[in-house]
Amino acid sequence: MTPGGPGGRPTTDPAMDPVDTAVEVLRAGGLVGLPTETVYGLAADAANEIAVRRIFAVKGRPADHPLIVHVAEAADLDHWARSVPPSAAALADACWPGPLTLLVPKADHVLSVVTGGRDTVGVRVPAHPLATAVLTRFGGGVAAPSANRFGQVSPTTAAHVRDDLGADVDFVLDGGPCPIGVESTIVDCTVDPPQILRPGGIASEQIEALLAAASGLDSRARLAPADGPRRASGMLASHYAPRARVELAASPAAADARASELAAAGLAVDVLDPTRDVVAAAQQLYVWLRDADDRGLDVVVAVLPAAVGLGHAIRDRLTKAAGLG
Ligand code: TXA
Ligand code: MG
Repeated sequence: MTPGGPGGRPTTDPAMDPVDTAVEVLRAGGLVGLPTETVYGLAADAANEIAVRRIFAVKGRPADHPLIVHVAEAADLDHWARSVPPSAAALADACWPGPLTLLVPKADHVLSVVTGGRDTVGVRVPAHPLATAVLTRFGGGVAAPSANRFGQVSPTTAAHVRDDLGADVDFVLDGGPCPIGVESTIVDCTVDPPQILRPGGIASEQIEALLAAASGLDSRARLAPADGPRRASGMLASHYAPRARVELAASPAAADARASELAAAGLAVDVLDPTRDVVAAAQQLYVWLRDADDRGLDVVVAVLPAAVGLGHAIRDRLTKAAGLG
């Protein structure tokens, strides 16, 4: 890689090991499409303010929406946190590497561009061999939101990232399709009891059980209230949205009936039913929503799965996609 391509962007050498290329692009202040077990991230050196600002510019993301810092291993949490609450230590110990983001009080050196001016920072250790390799060789923290334009469907393949961001991303590391397919669960450990701000790849029931075991009490993580100043940006309505209108249905039968009605009215419509296998449905969810647009559907009628396991995350994303967050 050479440090300055056209417009001051890093340029990449196709003969180089892709992980080394990703690391060099990060060191040069560039942006990398980074595979994780949840979704692809748009990664930049979390200690480089100019690089982090470029993430916001490329995504079209409001500056007050904080970014998650990705690190190689749980021991790195100490570097990013001013202090590590016992709940965070317990959850990190049990769930990392994995699809869990912990909000902790931020250390002084953490850039406010990363935290959106907040006094907390979100940290996670992703469980994807290529992400681990990049983070280990890079040595620092990597700020990365999902690698989609703001408000749109998250990418779960390298091709999604290239399609969405084109030349705005300096290098995309292809790690294949993301195995989980929905974003990490976010737990705010700066409040007592901790709160789940976004359901995700680790089930709420598991978080609750781990917290209860750690505290030795029957304390339960509460789901965040539907609104309030502390909610995560993913809690905004009309997130994760395809161009097609998304309607929600309570059962497969209700979805089929509604789809027939819409089809009779001349609309291109299909039913999305994640209820049979929520794990497979989560993995395919964003692929399916993107395909809906490629197929030119006017309406997607989506069945809400039961609120258990990955069903929490799927319900959340579908509800946001329907603009009803
Ligand atoms: O699985 C994931 O979490 C993926 C992969 C790439 O790691 N990342 C991801 O990032 O989903 P993003 O930026 O699309 O969503 C992160 C969410 C946002 O809603 C953001 O507002 C919230 O986390 N967040 C991050 N730091 C926060 C903080 N200090 N306080 C409150 N919310 C925070
Ligand atoms: Mg996102």
